[in-house]
Amino acid sequence: MSSYSIQSLEHYFRVYRRSVRKPKKFWGRIAEDNFTWYQKWEKVVEFDMQEARFTWFKNGKLNITKNCIDRHLANLGDKNAIIFEPNNPNEPARHYTYNQLYSEVSRMANVLRDQGVKKGDRVCIYLPMIPELAIAMLACARIGAIHSVVFAGFSAQALSARINDCTCRMLITADGGYRGSKKISLKQIADEALSQTPSIEKVLVVKRTGERVSMKEERDQWLQPLLEQAAAASKAEVMDAEEPLFILYTSGSTGKPKGMLHTTAGYMVYTAYTFKNIFNYQQDDVYWCTADIGWITGHSYILYGPLLNGATTVIFEGIPSYPDYSRFWEVIQKHRVNQFYTSPTAIRSLAKEKIEYVQRFQLDSLKVIGSVGEPINEEAWHWYNDHVGNKRCPLVDTWWQTETGGILISAIPFVTPTKPTYASLPLPGIRPVLMDELRNEITGNQKTGNLCIEFPWPAIARTIWGDHQRYIDTYFSKYPGKYFTGDGALRDEVGYYRITGRVDDVIIVSGHNLGTAPIEDVISEHPYVAESAIVGIPHEIKGNALYGFVVLKETGLWRDRNNLIREINQLITDQIGPIAKLEKIQFVNGLPKTRSGKIMRRILRKIAEGEDSDFGDVTTLVDPDIVEEIRRERV
Ligand code: WT7
Repeated sequence: MSSYSIQSLEHYFRVYRRSVRKPKKFWGRIAEDNFTWYQKWEKVVEFDMQEARFTWFKNGKLNITKNCIDRHLANLGDKNAIIFEPNNPNEPARHYTYNQLYSEVSRMANVLRDQGVKKGDRVCIYLPMIPELAIAMLACARIGAIHSVVFAGFSAQALSARINDCTCRMLITADGGYRGSKKISLKQIADEALSQTPSIEKVLVVKRTGERVSMKEERDQWLQPLLEQAAAASKAEVMDAEEPLFILYTSGSTGKPKGMLHTTAGYMVYTAYTFKNIFNYQQDDVYWCTADIGWITGHSYILYGPLLNGATTVIFEGIPSYPDYSRFWEVIQKHRVNQFYTSPTAIRSLAKEKIEYVQRFQLDSLKVIGSVGEPINEEAWHWYNDHVGNKRCPLVDTWWQTETGGILISAIPFVTPTKPTYASLPLPGIRPVLMDELRNEITGNQKTGNLCIEFPWPAIARTIWGDHQRYIDTYFSKYPGKYFTGDGALRDEVGYYRITGRVDDVIIVSGHNLGTAPIEDVISEHPYVAESAIVGIPHEIKGNALYGFVVLKETGLWRDRNNLIREINQLITDQIGPIAKLEKIQFVNGLPKTRSGKIMRRILRKIAEGEDSDFGDVTTLVDPDIVEEIRRERV
């Protein structure tokens, strides 16, 4: 029996054992049987966990778009590759067959080449959720350019920082984008960013909203007329297995965002394999993941994973609450969706609305439902399982990260029995371990610890763009020889994993990964602010919300507290994006600090969560009285 598609629990255990005993044989076999290569690799894997060096499929030559598109043309040419469902339900859906996708990607690839983009160049893509986003990414991959997609909800400053970090030559954007009842003027935001991005030579603009935009001569061009003139066939660049495919930024607990670099062959093999198994994709199925392509979930499981399997993937431009709270369910009924993959935040926000929103629609096409991005709480799990999956669709809670490229821990539907709030078992090739603070491995079950992975898998990020040392320091130093995830986990009596949340200063708000330090840095730019500390507080829908403790420079300088709160949140919106706004702000006279100057966030977290006593040991604080003062004035 092939290990590409896992059929039973017994089969899973057999494949899993084989994958960890003989990883080279295991991955070599999958790579050989399921993809097309220009040239076979010489060695499946070489690695050094101390130095964070990974080479998968050494000297293999391929192009990922040949595998996503060309190789399906003979048998699946007329099958839908992409179904585009617009924000406005009255606008007709658009369908792209594999043949059409081939033409569209080729045209775009030819335009990029005409505009001077070469293999290895970085192209920044700042687009809403429209088909051109997927086509632009594939076109980059076709010619060997490295795409760096920036989520269209990010601000001008966040965009320019990301463009500059990897010195992109080109920006692909749109006049504007639709999001529910709102219109976002993307080109205008991009123009602001472009005033500070010397490396950008060309800007291509997709027409979506038709709003007026300013076009800078020489630099800016409308994309559609160029596409119309371009040839609908194209040669794919021959890529080495380890040549970069894309950069995707993720925020860390400190410093500027990290440009995670993913390379070609390992990423391809891993996303294809995991997509096939985790969603049990069958040839006539329609698969829908509601994430934005601007995040890793969209890269791996809207675009690459599905297309590598010849799947039909839905790209949805809108939001779950527009025109009303039944939109997801309406789209599932409309396109007869078979696999549905969304976030706990979306589930929680829909679960609080009337149940009729769900019940009005036929969801019987669904076979598998999935969750990703943050721990799914028990209530949300049951609501999703009962009302969407109708207790008959396995619910896969998939745990992974931007850095891991693909899902590492998840149930396999119809194979692994699911258990609410548990991501369950590691996928083949993945070796999770729990570690304690003293760097000892925690053996045995029913234990909690810091989650590490012991052996590399093909889609592990290769570096942080421009800063390999930071990559080593962040992920490979705390537990030498292991990849440290930054998450805590519990292993139950049968070996199932439950992810308990971040153990560092990253807070996940509505499924978005937010480091506290970068936000604190922004707040400090306000002229009245001396310093601040941000902690997470539980939030009914968002999972977590941000609570900021802010120390002002001099009292008296400011009069209007609400105005100051608005200004601070505006600063955050401008520099990072609205997702990082603070839910609550408390002005304090000082922060609880140790003698060495470290802020005791543990205490602030307890205060923000509403606890009144039991702050633990406060004797190491410079000023223990400050704790009581902050507690009294909690907002
Ligand atoms: C962090 C990574 C990878 C997809 C989107 C997020 C948290 C992700 C789960 C899950 C519990 C989860 C972790 C992880 N997370 N999936 N199923 N259960 N927590 O990617 O932005 O890189 O965030 O999201 O804390 O470390 P990301």
